[in-house]
Amino acid sequence: MDRMQQQTLLATTADRRRAAELRDFLVYHNHRYHTLDSPEISDAEYDAAFRELVALEERFPELRSPDSPTRRVGGEVLDKLETRLHRRRMYSLDNVFSIEEWEAFLKRMKNALPEADSVFWCDPKMDGLALELGYEEGEFSFALTRGNGSVGEVVTAAMRTVRDLPKRLSAGFPRYIEIRGEVLFRRQDFERMNEKQRNEGGKIFANARNAAAGSIRQLNTSITAARPLRFLAYGLGAVDWGDEAAAPLWTSHAELMARLQAWGFETPPRGRLCRTSEEVIAYYNEVLTRRETLSYDIDGVVMKANDLEAQEALGHTARAPRFAVAWKFPAQQAVTRLLDITVQVGRTGVLTPVAELEPVQIGGALVTRATLHNEDEIRKRDVRIGDKVFVRRAGDVIPEVVSAALDERSPDATPYVFPHHCPSCGMPAHRIEGESAWRCVNLSCPAMLRQSITHFVSKAGLDIEGLGQRWTEMLVSSGRVRTPADLFTLTVQELLKYERMGARLAGKFVASLDTARREATLQRLICALGIRHVGEQTAKTLAAAYVDMDALGKADIEELQQLPDIGPEVASSIRAFFEDESNRILLRRLHEQGVWPVQRQEDAGASKKGALGGKKILFTGTLSIPRSKAQTLAEDAGAEVVGGVSRKLDFLVAGEAPGSKLDKARALGIDVLDEDGFMALLRQDQDS
Ligand code: IVH
Repeated sequence: MDRMQQQTLLATTADRRRAAELRDFLVYHNHRYHTLDSPEISDAEYDAAFRELVALEERFPELRSPDSPTRRVGGEVLDKLETRLHRRRMYSLDNVFSIEEWEAFLKRMKNALPEADSVFWCDPKMDGLALELGYEEGEFSFALTRGNGSVGEVVTAAMRTVRDLPKRLSAGFPRYIEIRGEVLFRRQDFERMNEKQRNEGGKIFANARNAAAGSIRQLNTSITAARPLRFLAYGLGAVDWGDEAAAPLWTSHAELMARLQAWGFETPPRGRLCRTSEEVIAYYNEVLTRRETLSYDIDGVVMKANDLEAQEALGHTARAPRFAVAWKFPAQQAVTRLLDITVQVGRTGVLTPVAELEPVQIGGALVTRATLHNEDEIRKRDVRIGDKVFVRRAGDVIPEVVSAALDERSPDATPYVFPHHCPSCGMPAHRIEGESAWRCVNLSCPAMLRQSITHFVSKAGLDIEGLGQRWTEMLVSSGRVRTPADLFTLTVQELLKYERMGARLAGKFVASLDTARREATLQRLICALGIRHVGEQTAKTLAAAYVDMDALGKADIEELQQLPDIGPEVASSIRAFFEDESNRILLRRLHEQGVWPVQRQEDAGASKKGALGGKKILFTGTLSIPRSKAQTLAEDAGAEVVGGVSRKLDFLVAGEAPGSKLDKARALGIDVLDEDGFMALLRQDQDS
């Protein structure tokens, strides 16, 4: 449709009704989110409705209205806190969701300002509460929430309790300056705090953002003081240099960020300059894949034109700047209907309740099932069949049902009763004291056999190509394969008897079993056996310490516990595995079939190396512990501490006031960690 035609279109009654409906919907959910800190729908649903309304208003200008949520910034103001005008309006950001939309933004920006370049300061979009801090003559003087963009709530007293907040700026500050950023919790701090709230019967927060908002908008600041809030700075409001002659200390956004850091502000992690549209796209992908490793919740990345003059020239629309845009990550949470709860039997016999869902898109994947963990979790979350439920999917982890939307529950929904029998073999299930799992203890339960063989051939096990779930199930249900050892006796002739099995496929199966027999490593085999509590990392440790399965089988609990990261629970589970007669038979048969890897040279001694094993690491800036201590910790984890930044460096750990090493490392694209990131890496080493 061309432009002329488009302009003459008039909205139908249905369009009008829909626009009004969307407006009400958005106003209501805006209020829940920004003012009450208690959202009922996912961000993705909000965004979808918002975009639908924008599209309608663009198509039919008559439907636009000044009070439409599309022209407003976000929250309203709670009347219990004192309010105050922002000197400069605090805008929201426009969102893009794809490469095409990012490129369209860039094109729009360049149309508006042809001399603009493509250099952007990029940093993660912190999922916290937007805040403005005022400093007069270098002294912290006030803190204001964004509120509705024009008027914010005064939260000065609450912000004074935030420990890492600079209360004074060091030399070279303007007479008056407003620093904008986000107040929020580190994920770990948030979880610890929620745990505490739970134990003390306090309010449980839905997420770190709501917790931060709830903590800062407190009249009683002793509550705020008890919560480990942080402030991350990413921009400025009004600035008054006082003396006309005083030269600004920065001319670009990158320089501004360096200045904020020099003043002692924490800034969003991994912020850096991207010089082309391609670099921005690469940045987005990089942060998206590393999302889970950051210590904060983020929901996208933000790109800001680096040239401050260009920022000024581009200015703002009614809602958002024209020089900056947020590229949101696919949502990790969505709402859908719980159609049924089924129960799956795992390879160790654990009965896991599975939510059968009305299919829903989350983070770019269609989700139809999600875990409900166990009986206790279902009860705790009070999830019932027929409920509308929040489903979360983060990275590669299995989607989970987080909670039910209680407002929408049907009156006849009844609590779920967990089965006390194995759904596969029908035998009574057991729930062990102190554990939340029900288990089937029937060793020949077909579901368990199927699962343990599926695990044995999977990527986590021997990674036997081509033997997918479907064939594993056929082989197990026909009774031909009862243990992993049976796989290695399969012949082409036998396989050909199965329906849909051709000569080529059968030949491929036998060949890949042969490859697995020859190439299996000790670590892979240990993993493949599915010993309880023994994952990849423990398997690695064991493969480094023992020459083969026989040697491992002879180790007693005390000896096993001498190994790094192996505690009493893991050690006894390994012992229990070898004491089981059927496992001993399985190992004997694997040995007979030639599936008997021995320790490799490169594995031996690897247990001394951790996640940092063989990595080159360098420290810069001030840490909260002595540098020598940090270096020892790194060395104990297998790292080599080096003296300078080069391409060979694996990690730079940057403390406060990091200096030029940090810039150099960033320029070389080397992984930069802050102190918490470094500690998390060490811990990861211990956990695995
Ligand atoms: S720059 C010039 N950078 O997200 C625009 N904002 O949804 C100023 N936000 O209003 C914002 N992380 O409160 C910027 N790294 C970041 C951010 C960020 C979170 C907030 C900010 C903004 C909101 C829009």
